[in-house]
Amino acid sequence: MIYLADTANLEEIKELFHYYPMQGVTTNPTILSHEDKPLSVIIPQILDCIGDKMIHIQVISETAEDILQEAKKYREFFDLKNNYYVKIPVTKEGFRAIQMAKDAGMNVTATAIFTQQQAIIAANAGADFVAPYVNRLDNIVSHGIDVVSDIVKCFRLHGISTKVLAASFKNVDQIYRVSMVGCHSVTASYEVLTALMSHPMTDKGVLDFERDGSHLYDVKW
Ligand code: G3P
Repeated sequence: MIYLADTANLEEIKELFHYYPMQGVTTNPTILSHEDKPLSVIIPQILDCIGDKMIHIQVISETAEDILQEAKKYREFFDLKNNYYVKIPVTKEGFRAIQMAKDAGMNVTATAIFTQQQAIIAANAGADFVAPYVNRLDNIVSHGIDVVSDIVKCFRLHGISTKVLAASFKNVDQIYRVSMVGCHSVTASYEVLTALMSHPMTDKGVLDFERDGSHLYDVKW
């Protein structure tokens, strides 16, 4: 299971990538709006922080033709390599655009997924990742974890190689539960990621070790 950072905040990205084995960054127009910097500025800054790890950039065009042109433009403008994934929402035009982007040799993440059927159609269209929104489902009295579980099971059952990149998390428990149903990857905010990577008992244990034994460590390094 791999972890990606769902943020465009440079300080958050730097810290996460410095300390943890992060595999990439995901963005969308809402996330970018929190930074209030144009795409032409923020994407190169993010790339400087993450090296050759994955960058998922969402398109805003509406028609399949425009989506493809937009996706290609980013590849050229930012000189992106094989770590670039174009994020395409699964609208009617989006499903067509996914097929066109794959024909053009691009990596695709199908996003804004709320049902197992949307995920299967996106996979059939060629998406490399599908991104179901867990917390947004939970918010409408639905079951985000069950949708992720259904997608994972269905992909296994039918031998579909598309990966499930679960997104939209409010807490650590949601990530724990998608991991236990076999989800391949998650993208989450800085707050949720740092919360799941730390534990107060670990901090207490380390303090106790220092207190009890540090005076015995007389071999210099
Ligand atoms: O990656 C999709 C994600 O950013 C949506 O999260 O918290 O806005 O539902 P949220």
